[in-house]
Amino acid sequence: MSNRRDFLKFMGAMSVMTTSSSCSNHQKKPNTFSSINPTSTDNVILAEGLSYKKLISWNESLTAKKKFGFNNDFISIINIDKNNAIMWVNHESVTPLFVSGYSGKDGKSKSKEQIDLEKDNVGGSAFKISRKNENSSWEVVVNHTINNRLDAHSKIPFAPKQKIFGSETAIGTVTNCAGGRTAWGTFLTCEENYYNVYGQSAYFKGQRLFKSSLPSKASWEASEPRLPEHYGWVVEYNPVTKEARKLVSMGRFCHEGATPVVAADGRTVVYMADDAANQFVYKFIPKKKGSLVEGELFVADTNSGKWLSLSYKKNELLKINFKSQQEVLIRARDAAKLLGATPLDRPEDIEINPKTGEIFIALTNNKKKGNYHGSILKIIEKDNDYLSMTFKSETFLLGGVSSGFSCPDNMIFDKSGNLWLTSDITGKAIGKGPYKEFKNNGLFYIPLSGEDAGQVFQIASAPNEAEFTGPCFSEDYKTLFLSVQHPGEKSKSMKSLSSNWNSLKQGDPPRPAVIMITGPTLDKIV
Ligand code: FEO
Ligand code: CA
Ligand code: CA
Repeated sequence: MSNRRDFLKFMGAMSVMTTSSSCSNHQKKPNTFSSINPTSTDNVILAEGLSYKKLISWNESLTAKKKFGFNNDFISIINIDKNNAIMWVNHESVTPLFVSGYSGKDGKSKSKEQIDLEKDNVGGSAFKISRKNENSSWEVVVNHTINNRLDAHSKIPFAPKQKIFGSETAIGTVTNCAGGRTAWGTFLTCEENYYNVYGQSAYFKGQRLFKSSLPSKASWEASEPRLPEHYGWVVEYNPVTKEARKLVSMGRFCHEGATPVVAADGRTVVYMADDAANQFVYKFIPKKKGSLVEGELFVADTNSGKWLSLSYKKNELLKINFKSQQEVLIRARDAAKLLGATPLDRPEDIEINPKTGEIFIALTNNKKKGNYHGSILKIIEKDNDYLSMTFKSETFLLGGVSSGFSCPDNMIFDKSGNLWLTSDITGKAIGKGPYKEFKNNGLFYIPLSGEDAGQVFQIASAPNEAEFTGPCFSEDYKTLFLSVQHPGEKSKSMKSLSSNWNSLKQGDPPRPAVIMITGPTLDKIV
């Protein structure tokens, strides 16, 4: 093995094949703090020198009429000044039992009232946060004019203006997973597993054949069926004008997130992943600076290191198989597959290393291929140019017992270029089979320089069945905002709750929340 990185990769690979008796990150001691052990405790457990407070929990008021939704995920902030900021938070889904009281057990279908309540609780929240001074905690400014909600009832136009199956607007934004923030003060919120609520259309030889509804507790099909083609987009939200639009040119698939980065010529390139087994990574190059409305979509062929264009007019194969550019964008998955894009192991969050410009992609897992613990892929554009059509790629780190994490999902870099990572072992798999030793989901810290480079330290452990999502640093890096999503999501009934985290009182449902992690350890290591 030529170097330490190869050794780490090797160790990660070994962990896929073996079942060691303990995770190797137990109480590893970097210079400044002790890593925590994996735990099954129904609470947020933090490494020494860290503590947390809640910023906002499910159902708390943003205005007299608008409330913070359920299952908060992606978090982003636009700084106004050092003590004031605008925060955006996605609400990916609901746990029906907690939000509408629907258990799916008595054979009844969801009522319209239940569906409407669930629709109110997804989408995203925009709100003002402030603090008194640099040593005090951030708080939500309730009733501020910025405070607003997008949900599954919001009317949102397609941009550029066009009709998709007869309509220039979609009703609602749904399954909002991760996202991004542009340099011109807008948030990107990404529609991921829309088929869970509105089903999926099937196409054959360019003909739209039928829509299949997946039988699921999440489905809203019983009340008002909607066109799946109106979902699966990146939605841009301007918190000042309160306008939203679905960016059609960026393609339609199960968008995990959208990671903007400014290229040498000033245009904002966006990297995106399609979170499903054997789906692809995309890049969008806009036509102009300061806008993502028009541009060209590319998909990654990581085998040959090429970005493949999904431009209809440039590609004969697309012309033969699709009727229009719009159809290519609506069926981006089919078009990408046709062109020979490289299937990946559930690509999720993408973050750009601020020190090197390299593009880090979390590949969560691919259980069908026996890959249970996932990995982190790195793309290095030719000459570090985000407009480049060629790149190199390599595995940065493999998940597994040896590396100490499994199922990487959301990531963020701190100001020193250290990588922070959250895990997404599904609620039903936590503590079982290949995931036994990892116990509850966690937050991990991976220094990329210094003597601990490439080592994985567990910083936090999530409540039962929860997942940490949306890590986001305040501008001064003194606060790490983090979503606690879906605690107790597998509870069978209100009488047998599997988590009580952040419940209002005994017997009430656990509440997802945005927490703020602070402390001397954070100050030392970021
Ligand atoms: Fe919503 Fe791919 O996590
Ligand atoms: Ca995610
Ligand atoms: Ca996930």
